[in-house]
Parts: sequence; C-alpha cells; structure tokens
Amino acid sequence: MASKTFAYVLSVVIFSFLLQLHSSAGQTVVKGVYWFPGSGFPVSGIDSTLFTHIFCAFADLNPTTYQVTISSSNSAQFSTFTQTVQQKNPSVKTLLSIGGGSSSPSTFASMASQASTRKSFIDSSIQLARSYKFHGLDLDWEYPSTSTEMNNLGLLLNEWRAAVAKEASSTRNTTLLLAAAFFYTSNYYTLNYPFQAISNSLDWVNVMAYDFYGPSWQGSMNMTGPPSALYNPRSQVSGDTGIKAWIQAGVPAKKLALGLPFYGYAWRLLDASKTGIFAPANGPAISPDGSQTYSQIRDLITQSGYIKAYNSTFVTNYCYKGLTWIGYDDTESIFTKVTYAKAKGLLGYFAWSVGADKNFTLAKNASSTWGP
Ligand SMILES: *[C@@H]1O[C@H](CO)[C@@H](O)[C@H](O)[C@H]1NC(C)=O
Ligand SMILES: *[C@@H]1O[C@H](CO)[C@@H](O)[C@H](O)[C@H]1NC(C)=O
Ligand SMILES: *[C@@H]1O[C@H](CO)[C@@H](O)[C@H](O)[C@H]1NC(C)=O
Ligand SMILES: *[C@@H]1O[C@H](CO)[C@@H](O)[C@H](O)[C@H]1NC(C)=O
Ligand SMILES: *[C@@H]1O[C@H](CO)[C@@H](O)[C@H](O)[C@H]1NC(C)=O
Repeated sequence: MASKTFAYVLSVVIFSFLLQLHSSAGQTVVKGVYWFPGSGFPVSGIDSTLFTHIFCAFADLNPTTYQVTISSSNSAQFSTFTQTVQQKNPSVKTLLSIGGGSSSPSTFASMASQASTRKSFIDSSIQLARSYKFHGLDLDWEYPSTSTEMNNLGLLLNEWRAAVAKEASSTRNTTLLLAAAFFYTSNYYTLNYPFQAISNSLDWVNVMAYDFYGPSWQGSMNMTGPPSALYNPRSQVSGDTGIKAWIQAGVPAKKLALGLPFYGYAWRLLDASKTGIFAPANGPAISPDGSQTYSQIRDLITQSGYIKAYNSTFVTNYCYKGLTWIGYDDTESIFTKVTYAKAKGLLGYFAWSVGADKNFTLAKNASSTWGP
C-alpha cells in the first residue's frame, strides 16, 4: 500500500517536472517588434527593454538556388544586431525575418514546391541564423495563393521544425525559434492556411491585423477607412474577426501574436466638413501611398494643428485638418488592442515597426498595458 502511494506520488512529481520542462521550452509572452534598415532608425537606438523579441527584416530568398541570403548592404548591421540589442536587455531574443511584402511570392511558391529546394531554404536559413547569432527565424511569405501552395507551406513548416530540432540536438545548442507572419485571418481569400502544420511546427504566428483600408487601394480610395480596426460593424474585415477565425481553425490562442501598426494612412477628403470614418475621399494625401509613421502623425498633431479623435466602436484613431484625414493607431487604440490580446489569452503582440514610433510612446504603452 505504502509503496503504491509512493509510486503514485513519484509519478506525479516526475510528470509535473516533465510538464514544466516542456512549457519552459515555449514562450510565455511575446512583446515583439520589427526593425528594418530602410527605416533609417539605428539598431543601437532601440530601447530593447520594452520587448521580448525583435525581428530583423529582411533576409532574401535567392530565386535560383532557393537559399536564404543576407544582402551585402545589410550584412554589417545584421551581423551585430543581436549583440547590439542585447546591450540594453541581455534576455531579449532576436529572429531573422525572411521575405516580406516586397519580396516575390512566386519565388517562395517555387521553393516550397519540391523537397530538394525546401531543403536548400531550410539548411541555409539555419546556417545563417547561427552564423549571424540570431535566436530564431521568421517566415514572411506574402502570400501563398493556391491550395497547392498552402499545402506546400505545411510541408515546409514541418520539415523546418524537424531540421531545427535535429540541429539543436546535434550541436547541443538551444533550438532555434520558428515564427511566421500570416494574413489577418485564417484563410487567404477563402484559401485555408495549413492549420495542423502551423500548430505543430511554429512557436507562434504573427497575425498581421492591419492594412484593412488604404487610400491607394482599389475599393477604399473613395472614402476614409479605419486602416487596422479591432472591430468593424460594417464588414468582416477586422482584427477581432481574424483572431477569432485563427482560434476557431484550431491554432491555439497561445500561439498567436496580435499585429499593431505603428503607422497610418492619409486620405484626401472631398469635403472638409465631413471628417468621420467612411467620409468621401479621393485617394492618398501627403505621401504617394498615403502612409505616415506614428512619429510623423504625432508631429502633425502637435506642430500643425491636426485635430485628433478616437472611435471606440472600431478601435481606431484618426486626425484631420482641412482636406487631409489620417487613420492610425494612437495610445487609445494600442491600449485597447493589447488589453484585448491579453483577455483573449493570446501569446502577445508585435508591431511594425520600431523606427516609426515617437520616442517609444506606443511601445511603452503596449508593454506596460500587458504587464510583466
Ligand atoms: C548557439 O546559438 C547561438 C545563437 O544562435 C550562437 O550564437 C552560438 O554560436 C551557437 N553555439 C554553437 C556551439 O553552435
Ligand atoms: C464611430 O464611427 C462610426 C462610423 O463613422 C460612427 O457611426 C460612430 O458614431 C462613431 N462612434 C464614435 C464613438 O465615435
Ligand atoms: C465608394 O465606392 C463603393 C463601391 O466601390 C461604394 O459602395 C461606396 O458607397 C462609395 N463611397 C463613397 C463615400 O462614395
Ligand atoms: C496607454 O494609453 C491609454 C490611452 O491613452 C492610457 O489610458 C493609459 O494610461 C496608457 N498606459 C500607459 C501605461 O501609459
Ligand atoms: C523621450 O522620452 C524620454 C523618457 O520618457 C524623455 O526623457 C525624453 O525627453 C523624450 N525625448 C523627446 C525628444 O521627446
């Protein structure tokens, strides 16, 4: 009897120990942010105490060898990236992001279509991550756009996971983190993502819950819109519908990070007295595609007299002056979205991008709102 009890207690102890081992391998929270060289923001200027993970964007995919490469113009900054951001926060983790919105999606599709080219991608990405001293890798393929491509994405993720596990055990090094940035919702124009492979093989997903409306896109140039609304009573396009769809599809909430844009879009109004969301407009203002960083928007408010507003139904900020109207995320939107992410049990959030913030105003609000 006593020995049975002892065996039971022992097995409970061992089981909880194993559970703990397993969960300590995962991330407890992601307070992420992307940095890219074109922002002109120096890596040494990043207040890395506000983040748990920093993404260095982007490495490229060679269209003939299907190897991941770092361009010679980025090589110097990328090679000191981890060391630099760890000066202010020794525990911050860094990930090398591959691809991005201006890379060719068809190169990713070709790479993912054959075992041999997937292997080129996988082996070269691991080798680059190690030699540049990153803690992980992040796939930004925007976007797989056929069901075959979605299926191949699943094969790629499973093979990538197997390869990083094998590399870690043979080098006895910590396993590289694997993340990916995906569309705001679990299907790309009705095409489902490979949910099982995503759940099994990625540490987490960066859900790009932004760019829903823009002044230079067909369909949203004739009226102002909430570029990255959390809710949208007028349509299915919102952060909340996207997050719910990912969870409904079976990807655990604890593997999702909510995307926060540190930028907005400016429209040209048709009538200076109609300044609400969905007011008549005719295309972009201020810049060719209307995009403006949060830092630029804040300067317009404080220095040029733009009037600032917040719509809590949509969870969007906007500001306007004369015939210019800008939809963006200020502290009210960021606070509400981070509160939402925490309440939904998500892993955390990430922002694009660190250099667009105004003296870390948004990053600070997000980090304190989430808490330790
Ligand atoms: C272990 O990984 C880290 C980060 O990727 C790297 O800096 C280090 O050189 C690796 N160590 C070995 C023994 O491979
Ligand atoms: C939010 O915007 C919508 C659409 O323009 C409007 O109908 C609503 O009154 C606004 N709500 C708030 C709280 O500003
Ligand atoms: C903008 O165009 C869409 C059709 O593309 C139409 O439904 C909408 O009413 C238009 N909005 C304005 C403010 O003209
Ligand atoms: C974040 O911003 C909201 C809205 O402006 C504000 O109420 C809140 O106090 C801010 N939180 C922090 C920690 O700055
Ligand atoms: C940036 O923020 C820090 C800390 O809050 C403050 O001391 C500093 O004056 C700010 N700098 C600017 C240019 O606003």
